[in-house]
Amino acid sequence: MSIDKFSSRIEFSAMTHFVRDLEDEGRSPVFRTMESATTDHVVVSGRSRIMLGSNNYLGLANHPRVIDAAQAALRRFGAASTGSRVANGTCSLHRTLEDELAQWHNTESAVLFPTGYQANVGTISALVRPGDTVILDWAAHASIHDGARLAGAHIEHFNHNSADELRALLVGARAVPTLVVVDGLYSMEGDIAPLDEIAALCREFSAMLMVDEAHSVGILGATRTGAVELFGMQDDVDIRMGTLSKGLGSIGGYVVGPEDLTDYLRTHARAYQFTTAGTPAAVGAAVEAVRIAQSDEGAERTARLIANVDLLRGALAAHDVETIAPTVLPDGTSAPGPIVPAIVADEQTLIEVWNRLFDQGIFSGISVFPGVRIGNPLLRLCVTADHSIADLEFVAKSIASLRPAESIDAPALTH
Ligand SMILES: Cc1ncc(COP(=O)(O)O)c(C=O)c1O
Repeated sequence: MSIDKFSSRIEFSAMTHFVRDLEDEGRSPVFRTMESATTDHVVVSGRSRIMLGSNNYLGLANHPRVIDAAQAALRRFGAASTGSRVANGTCSLHRTLEDELAQWHNTESAVLFPTGYQANVGTISALVRPGDTVILDWAAHASIHDGARLAGAHIEHFNHNSADELRALLVGARAVPTLVVVDGLYSMEGDIAPLDEIAALCREFSAMLMVDEAHSVGILGATRTGAVELFGMQDDVDIRMGTLSKGLGSIGGYVVGPEDLTDYLRTHARAYQFTTAGTPAAVGAAVEAVRIAQSDEGAERTARLIANVDLLRGALAAHDVETIAPTVLPDGTSAPGPIVPAIVADEQTLIEVWNRLFDQGIFSGISVFPGVRIGNPLLRLCVTADHSIADLEFVAKSIASLRPAESIDAPALTH
């Protein structure tokens, strides 16, 4: 009987049928197969295309030194770590990476998880208990929402980047332990959390604050550790989490902070304990990527990335393509991130736009529910340090050429 219920759930899933129909028509923007390495270009369906849909912001996934380090780790430690960090899964590279992440972030300690998803789920579910409150920006990453759910916490949401709504929720949560979690730089909207206001509120209401730097590490701040550093909030943020899977060109998640926190996570985070440790090749690659990100070359790559973002934004604006604007910081300066989201009228238009760009030799990204709220689809353009001026100008021109037939303008996003 219950098998029937599960079967019908699987059989009649609207989402599954929608994707399957698009795949049958050869028009699906999701689950495509990459046929080459993902650099500023990628081969898909037999043709090289300009890659605007990857998180390889600094180009480190293809850096010769990162690849050499991965190969050396593979040769020395083998293809697998063969166990949990708790048992036999820790090799010297895990320790080196944790030490260097802690040094880079100027914290006492770091703890490494196999993925960023596990870092969020593991950390939040280890710290929070049923009866506690977790307050999240609606746009916070799915792994943050999932960690809070797994913890059995009471969950509240505030509209995207609204410090006023956060204040109202903190007033209501006053009596119980409260954790506030935000992304430093949002993966779909591409904007930055107002960490100065959020940290001040958390201080006022004695709430713990956790910031996810998945998309900002390697990019924001004087030493490029992320949005917390950009705002100078290192002493005001209790938990800084990041990933090695975007700008840092490998895979893995981490939390940096006091040793009491990281030791607690090592002994209580089930997503750390009950899973096989990150593979040696990935950890070796990450060690080298972290070194490059901190060096003069890292600074140059970040500067090139931001110059490319400015160029694409300028070209899109020149063609009247509406995008979510970069964040303006308290000192009035603009802080662009690598993600340039163009506003699209609806999901059907987005799929049409994606396919028309694909036909013109561009692989872009899409943001649809549940990545964003229903009715707010975005064409997600991810810039890298390695894109050429000619390619970015071509992308802007191609997007503009789709109008008016496939207008990508729509009312402003209402998170
Ligand atoms: C904001 C944010 N946090 C966490 C994650 C999860 O990181 P990972 O891909 O390393 O599991 C992602 C990845 O999409 C993300 O965008």
